Amino acid sequence: MRVVSGIQPTGNLHLGNYLGAIRNWVRMQDSLSDGGTCLFFLADLHAISMPHDPAALRRATLEMAAALTACGIDPARSILFNQAQVPQHAELQWLLAGTARMGWLNRMTQWKDKAGKNREGASVALFTYPVLQAADVLLYQATHVPVGEDQKQHLELARDIAQKFNTDFAETFALPEPIVPPAAARIMSLRDGLAKMSKSDASDMARINLTDDVELVMQKVKKAKTDPEPLPSEPAGLAGRPEALNLVTIYAALADITPEAVLAEHGGQGFGTFKPRLGELLVETLRPISARFTELLADQHALDAILASGAAKARELAIPTLDATYRALGLVR
Ligand code: TYM
Repeated sequence: MRVVSGIQPTGNLHLGNYLGAIRNWVRMQDSLSDGGTCLFFLADLHAISMPHDPAALRRATLEMAAALTACGIDPARSILFNQAQVPQHAELQWLLAGTARMGWLNRMTQWKDKAGKNREGASVALFTYPVLQAADVLLYQATHVPVGEDQKQHLELARDIAQKFNTDFAETFALPEPIVPPAAARIMSLRDGLAKMSKSDASDMARINLTDDVELVMQKVKKAKTDPEPLPSEPAGLAGRPEALNLVTIYAALADITPEAVLAEHGGQGFGTFKPRLGELLVETLRPISARFTELLADQHALDAILASGAAKARELAIPTLDATYRALGLVR
């Protein structure tokens, strides 16, 4: 089993990232003690596909390394690194660019959303973004890729690229399987139950950041958009109530129980009663993570050393597949 996944070091780690992906990374790491390898990386090369400030990117890279470690990624057991220190990612991207089709990339919803109406003004990197993402996982022969729902389409594209390359040239890549948590695949904004919780949301009230303090968490939950009805006693009663559904989903994921169990306990309650309970559960989950985060962030040298040592291991694992790709394409080196 080869587990590979990444996160962009832009902005804060939020509850959607944590419940949709990172918690699964930690669980996979913990269950794999000797039967496989986990590689987790900061997708800093992806981060330059949108306008960015270099100093902020450098800071966010270290913060994200600290945040992942605080969530339970153990650099002694998992390979933790940033893409920019492993040039094989960018190299393989170019080799795969001959296989990826314009039509495939044109259909990517993230491209359509982020480029919006201004396609002519979008960066080339934003368009080819999914090819780099394919390189990220194919480079390591990934078998399992734990991600939230929104990344499934990119993973399907990675499979298409791998399949076409294997057929056109030589059997080179394993086909990666996306692993999406059934319960928390898509955590929604606290201000709009139809929009996903996102780092790029203009309103900070829309998301819970893993570094928010107790008061802020309680305030964000209190102010979260809801409807005037009490909670139903079964999930069917959440139909057409996206904000209520989102809060129940978050509660269930945090408590590690089903939405049915949440409603069996809290059905009939109004949000005035339910929200403080949810807030407490959030605070309980975040408190140890944010304490550890602050501690880790104080030692920048230690974080740099973690990333450098992870990158050295990643480069070593990347070389055989990259060599095989050059060979399959008839490129003489
Ligand atoms: P990114 O940085 O946007 O998000 C990191 C992970 O968090 C998940 N996620 C969510 N899950 C549930 N609900 C939400 N509201 C939510 N928001 C984010 C994402 O699905 C993701 O798993 N392109 C990727 C990074 C990447 C990558 C890769 C991932 C680069 N290369 C290779 C996997 C494999 C991204 O921008 O994720």
